[in-house]
Amino acid sequence: MTDSTQHDIPHLQELANERHEIERKITHLFAPEDLVLQQCLAAAKEAGLPAIQISPLQGKFLQFLAAACTAQKILEIGSLAGYSGIWLARALPTNGRLITLEINPRHAEVVRTSFANAGIADRTDVRVGKALDLLPQMESEGPFDLIFIDADKAPSPQYLEWALRLTRPGSIIVIDNSIRHGRALQEEAAQDEQTAGMVEYNKRVSSNPRLTSLALAMDEDYTDGFTVAVVLPEER
Ligand code: SAH
Ligand code: DHB
Ligand code: MG
Repeated sequence: MTDSTQHDIPHLQELANERHEIERKITHLFAPEDLVLQQCLAAAKEAGLPAIQISPLQGKFLQFLAAACTAQKILEIGSLAGYSGIWLARALPTNGRLITLEINPRHAEVVRTSFANAGIADRTDVRVGKALDLLPQMESEGPFDLIFIDADKAPSPQYLEWALRLTRPGSIIVIDNSIRHGRALQEEAAQDEQTAGMVEYNKRVSSNPRLTSLALAMDEDYTDGFTVAVVLPEER
């Protein structure tokens, strides 16, 4: 086979189809959406919210991480319609707590309705405001076992600073949209402030001796995904 046949468009399309089929099978087996999650997305659409929630695989992965650190207290920054919040809250024990921060009161209303419909209203706390205004009031409520950052991208390094203050050794810090076609992983200048924030976030987590971390391409056909970090014990 020549290079041109290996790299021609039909062949690339076949490879893309194969990846999508694999993801579909994994989702079907490991992360099927139940009626409540589907209703959450329908309510979001109905309210005119953008469909920028995490994928089912990412939702399941958040649940997996919450289980791995036996999470009882979870903090989310950026609720949208509550889709990721439902995945997260379902990993909590009945006495657990998810606090989710949302700047848009219209979004927060949809979240509250979806959380009630999911039967998790008692375990959840939807707070309306700018995350950087709400976070300084939260120090007495920590430490959180898991923090999921998925809001505006420019202040990502500041969200990391808050996450480090609000966690304990063994806690897990996750951020979404930290790959962005590789743009969030490169140093070169001339980027928008969102990408610059994410580049700085990745730089800081990957070099922080208090953390062990990894970026995982698992969304948007492996062109975007999470950066995950575990807070290490102080004495090592
Ligand atoms: N985590 C959600 C998607 C979040 S989309 C999910 O996967 O289901 C990003 C959300 O962050 C939007 O609802 C937006 O209104 C909110 N947001 C943006 N800037 C914010 C800020 N500074 N503080 C709090 N929320 C913010
Ligand atoms: C956008 C934000 C997100 O958190 C996301 O996952 C996808 C897109 C956005 O602002 O466009
Ligand atoms: Mg996101």
